[in-house]
Parts: sequence; structure tokens; C-alpha cells
Amino acid sequence: MRSWIVGLSLVLFAAVPLMAEERIVGGPCDGCEQVFRGMPDEIPHSTRIAAPDEPGEPLRIRGRVLNSAGVPQAGIIVYAYHTDAKGRYPRGDSRHGLLRGWARSDAQGEYGFLTIRPASYPNSSIPQHVHLHVIEPGRVTYYIDDILFDDDPLLTERLRSQMPSGRGGDGLTQPQRNDQGIWQVQRDIVLGQGISDYP
Ligand SMILES: [Fe+2]
Repeated sequence: MRSWIVGLSLVLFAAVPLMAEERIVGGPCDGCEQVFRGMPDEIPHSTRIAAPDEPGEPLRIRGRVLNSAGVPQAGIIVYAYHTDAKGRYPRGDSRHGLLRGWARSDAQGEYGFLTIRPASYPNSSIPQHVHLHVIEPGRVTYYIDDILFDDDPLLTERLRSQMPSGRGGDGLTQPQRNDQGIWQVQRDIVLGQGISDYP
């Protein structure tokens, strides 16, 4: 009887996620709960989002996760999602669509994604963007400013001027295409910057 109870409790324990969802800070957050849906147990520091056959121009996102003093921070989970090459969120299990993924900063604070360059929404003046969220394990989660692209004709002067003081640091990137035709952008993240009630 006792071993049966122990066995049952082990099964129940295994069915419960070991890590609770982190507390949301930084004001109302549309989709903040989605960052936990389907999150893998093992998260590499660099993650492929779009499959190799996904239509679109390849894009490599790189960045460093820093604290407010500029010191690299390891073990921070960065979550990204974006539109496809037609400006749509392809249907998936999450309402963030299929083009989504997680990367965990390494000992140097570095993270990365390999994906495709998103298009802006159809018939919209909203610029191309990659949505980003941060999960600080055991502490908090919040969204930060999108990755925007300096060569995007939809980018306004007003948006440009707002970016440096934005949530989680400056999201405006300077895309460079390498000789393999892969766009490269750097998006460093400053933890807690512009996030209200950040602990
Ligand atoms: Fe969007």
C-alpha cells in the first residue's frame, strides 16, 4: 500500500511543472502568459525559429543580456516571435503563431536566434518588428521593446527617438547583410530598463 502511494505521488509530482510561471511585471502585458506555452526544458543560447525552408530572407539576431550596470547576465531566457514574409502570424498552438522560440543567455550573456526577416503587417503603417519577452528564472517576466530595423521605410522619426530609452534597452537595430545573404542584427537587452515595479 505504502509503495503504491509513493508511486502515485511520484507520478503526480512529475506531472506538475517544476518551475512555476514567473510573476509578470512592467504593466499590462498582452500575451505574457504565452511565453510559457511549449517552452522546452533545455534551451540553447542560440535557437532556430524559422525552418530552413520557410520563405523569406534569413536573419540572425544576436545580443547580450546586461544588468543596469552593463554586466553580462547568464541564464536569462529571451523569447521572440514575429510575422512571416507576408506579414502574418502563421497559425500554431500559441496565438503568437508558429514563428517563435526561446534562447537562454550563456556565460558571456550572449543569446541568438536564426530566423527570417519579418514583413510588416499587410496594409499597415506598423514597421517590421520582432516581439521580445524576457524571463528571469525564479524572478519575473515582462515584454521589452520590439526589434526594429533601421532600413525600414515605415520607421518614423518619432519611433526612432523613443527607442534608446525603451523597455529593455534600445530595440532599433542596424541590419547588415553578410556575403551569404544573411541579415545580421544586434539587440542588446538591459534587464529592468523602463520596467515599472521591477524588483
Ligand atoms: Fe506584432
